[in-house]
Amino acid sequence: MNILVLGGGGREHALAWALAKSPKCEQLFVAPGNGGTAKIAQNIPHLSPEDGNAVVGFARDHAVDLVVVGPEALLVAGVADAVRQAGILCFGPDMQGAQLEGSKTYSKQFMDANNIPTARYESFTELAPALSFAEELGAPLVVKADGLAAGKGVIIAQTDEEAKEAIKSCFEGAFGEAGNTVLVEEFLTGPECSLLAFVAQGKAFFMEPAQDHKRAFDGDTGPNTGGMGVYSPVPIVSEEEQAAMQKIMQTAAAATAKEPFINDYRGVLYGGFMLTANGPSVLEFNVRFGDPETQVILPRLESDFVDATHAIACGKPEDVHLTWSDEWAVCVVLASKGYPGAYETGKVILGVDEAEALPGVVVFHAGTSHNTDGELVSAGGRVLNVVALGESFEEARERAYEACACINFEGKQYRSDIGRRAALGRSAWE
Ligand code: AMP
Ligand code: GLY
Repeated sequence: MNILVLGGGGREHALAWALAKSPKCEQLFVAPGNGGTAKIAQNIPHLSPEDGNAVVGFARDHAVDLVVVGPEALLVAGVADAVRQAGILCFGPDMQGAQLEGSKTYSKQFMDANNIPTARYESFTELAPALSFAEELGAPLVVKADGLAAGKGVIIAQTDEEAKEAIKSCFEGAFGEAGNTVLVEEFLTGPECSLLAFVAQGKAFFMEPAQDHKRAFDGDTGPNTGGMGVYSPVPIVSEEEQAAMQKIMQTAAAATAKEPFINDYRGVLYGGFMLTANGPSVLEFNVRFGDPETQVILPRLESDFVDATHAIACGKPEDVHLTWSDEWAVCVVLASKGYPGAYETGKVILGVDEAEALPGVVVFHAGTSHNTDGELVSAGGRVLNVVALGESFEEARERAYEACACINFEGKQYRSDIGRRAALGRSAWE
């Protein structure tokens, strides 16, 4: 099979890596790709992945059999629709299904209609009623821009004053058009956990749970980021919680098949859960693989990833057979100095080969490219995802940090405590 992956971050490197391992993968293209995907696939830097017609044109010219879409923005823009309409298999839901992530209001309505536990909320297009609902709810509360905001459209307001400011800033355009509709939501507490499933024909096939660290600095402090580290499995999730999350995901998957608005969902459904005292509650649905969750989930997949993506893209859930390794996977993100604020790029990166020579270690590139001298350089805020597998959580964590120490670039910044809280147990969240 010739396969085209759309996207260029650490997730897409992990997707390409898992596809390339399959004997069924013949030619592999990544558009635009990055410095890491360049080693295992052909990067197509000039193909705009959000341009459905261009993607179809490329796929036809290169006899592509299957397109695998990474980022949500492409799905919301309808790239999967364009590919499927051209008669080419696509892994990823169409633009209607993608509204489960593209509109938080729609997503909440979907949850309510299907009795899926989620925080109490209301959705507003005008300031005054939003402010009065916030007053009624009282701080702490959560203010969310309805549309896609590259992971930035969520504000946790600790005081009534902060809540007011957050609502105003959304309506004043802090998140562009994504904030034309604003959700005001009850604040939930507990550990978070992500459970992803392959979904087709209303059936869910579970991946292994993962848990990420969103804050920039040690001790889960500092600003929110796209994720500074992640691990799988998640030691602090009870069996009851895991079963409850699976049941919720099954309900959601079945609803995608029944809901008239959604037409034939084929791809990943990602459940972001808060493990509250009353059981798991859905914080959000995403319609694609998580970043960086994918970087610890796919290294644990033992069965053939091309088979799985192909079966889902064909809408044949009966052909999905997943097996997972019992190993632990830990990922530490190496970021540029200043991230998630302003940062510099173009720093020469050394030591990736040494890191990958360590047992159980694989390094996915999140933001890298090559300079005119052919050297690997940083090209983003999150630069590398250093992943280690181990027989125990402890072994995986130690290996990941040993690998991080091998790699150097000017301004290298990373958290030294990925997985520490989870290793301490549930009480670390109380
Ligand atoms: P979302 O994009 O909706 O998942 O929100 C991003 C992050 O904001 C989540 O991973 C949580 O850390 C936090 N968050 C979202 N909704 C809530 C909520 N209702 N209560 C507490 N934290 C939340
Ligand atoms: N790691 C969070 C996400 O992919 O949305």
